[in-house]
Amino acid sequence: MSDLFAVNGRIVPAEQASISVLDLGFLRGVGAFETFRTYDGHPHGLAEHLRRIWESAESFGQKPFFDEAAVRRVVREIHQRSGHAELRVNMVVTPGNHGEGVFGTVGEPTWVVIARDVHAPPESSYEQGVTAVTFHAARHLPTLKTTSYLSGRKGLELAAKAGAHEAFYVDDKGYVTEGVTSNVLMRVANRVMTPVADCLPGITKAGIKPIAESLGLTWYECRITRDDVYTADEVWITSAVREVLPIVRVDGKVIADGKVGDWGRKLRAAYRAHCIASARADAGV
Ligand SMILES: Cc1ncc(COP(=O)(O)O)c(C=O)c1O
Repeated sequence: MSDLFAVNGRIVPAEQASISVLDLGFLRGVGAFETFRTYDGHPHGLAEHLRRIWESAESFGQKPFFDEAAVRRVVREIHQRSGHAELRVNMVVTPGNHGEGVFGTVGEPTWVVIARDVHAPPESSYEQGVTAVTFHAARHLPTLKTTSYLSGRKGLELAAKAGAHEAFYVDDKGYVTEGVTSNVLMRVANRVMTPVADCLPGITKAGIKPIAESLGLTWYECRITRDDVYTADEVWITSAVREVLPIVRVDGKVIADGKVGDWGRKLRAAYRAHCIASARADAGV
């Protein structure tokens, strides 16, 4: 089965999808991206992902140049033709080809859609939980989703060595800000605590907040230290593809009794139901 990608709205087999070597995404690392997934073949949270990609693209002066209907058309066609039950969609925007000076461009901006099998973690990861490590670093432009993930490389190397799933950024003041590709949340008694400073405002996390509150948890946005994380009752990471994934060990320290907690299970089930319903409603089905 060959994957299908789209370059500026044109769907082609993956091996034929290409952009110019003059693209500023390639030459200067100037780009914004989003990752979202489908439920029953329909994109989830597309309006929010579009809002965020244009906010990120604003950092390099790029105005919106395609709309939600265009993304839906591309995703619908790729979903139908690819045969994948569900898609993980990476959508990348750059200013296009280099012109004069450092950031000057000529011609049109670039929009690429890379849609592949969703490849979510196996159910065993949700049943047994996964592990994380921490590392000292700061993301460049942390509230935006730019294509530069180099600051996370060291963390993911440490994670790979430790057999861990994720690496948590710790800033120079000792606060845990987020994961390399996820937000970090923890539960202490009936309080969910999550950092909002110097991290990506996650769309998954925003979707979980009203669900957590409706289930009786109090939402508390605050700075958290590594010790706070080590001593939490439950720790979770959130991202579009992983939804809510429980973390049972951080830096080798066992969180609570080392088992996946009930709240993590409840939140994931409720969030998933919400995603399925809202993806269908947004698609008008
Ligand atoms: C650095 C970073 N933080 C947080 C997230 C989670 O964001 P979302 O829930 O919108 O997928 C991601 C997702 O890729 C990320 O890369």
